[in-house]
Amino acid sequence: MSNQNIYDNQEFFDGYKKLRSNPASANVIVEKPALFSLAPDLRGKSVLDLGCGYGENCVRFLELGARKVMGLDISAKMLEVARKENSSPNIQYVNKSMTDLNEITETFDVVFSSLAVHYIEDFDKLVKDVYDHLNLGGYFIFSQEHPLTTALLTDNYWTRNTDNEYIHYNLTTYSIEGERKTNWIVNGVIKYHRTFSSIVNTLSDTGFIIEKMLEPSPGNDIMEQYPAYKRYIHKPDFLLVKARKNASHSAGYRG
Ligand SMILES: C[S@@+](CC[C@H](N)C(=O)[O-])C[C@H]1O[C@@H](n2cnc3c(N)ncnc32)[C@H](O)[C@@H]1O
Repeated sequence: MSNQNIYDNQEFFDGYKKLRSNPASANVIVEKPALFSLAPDLRGKSVLDLGCGYGENCVRFLELGARKVMGLDISAKMLEVARKENSSPNIQYVNKSMTDLNEITETFDVVFSSLAVHYIEDFDKLVKDVYDHLNLGGYFIFSQEHPLTTALLTDNYWTRNTDNEYIHYNLTTYSIEGERKTNWIVNGVIKYHRTFSSIVNTLSDTGFIIEKMLEPSPGNDIMEQYPAYKRYIHKPDFLLVKARKNASHSAGYRG
């Protein structure tokens, strides 16, 4: 099973950098605050960040008291930025796909992943691998593109009126799971769609207890300031999950 490494594509990398430099991006306004609201007490904890990108979250985990952080990413270009802009003796950046977690022998107290698991085809294997790399009572906390977003086979997401206001979301093909080729920054970016129930059942079948799920939406003030955020009235962009490794259940170490 091969993994697409789109962040090492120069055109995509440049476009993504531009997107992320926007202080009013959905990452900054919606996703990050929700992700960190799910963080347990990180003081003295070991953390693994899957798909760490520029390493911004890795630094934040240290600021919140984490003892050490491993940031893992398939993209050498993203890690080059991480090593330049977000380095610390307590952060180890590893250039590896999260599909090869079995090559990591350490276990962790918390595994985070921000907006990266929708790039993974085999979610069952990923969740089992994460379970195996967590200490008992440890947390898997991740955000992903919302299943209502990943569902579509085309890029025809919205119906708008003549004033360009969002009227409704064009949900299609929700029940067909699997690969989606999207036009996001460049053509042919591969993501994977899974239904909400698949995600929940995979986590619980593996032995995780789901403590909280979030589908965050910006407040009215943000919607007034940036009208594009009014789309959240109809559909959330992100799904976030906080799951705990159930101490009384063992999936068995398969490393
Ligand atoms: C949307 S970015 C998010 C970066 C970072 N987590 C953040 O929130 O700022 C997704 C990241 O996932 C990484 N990624 C995609 N597929 C991956 C894989 N198979 N293994 C590890 N990282 C992967 C990409 O290279 C990219 O850095």
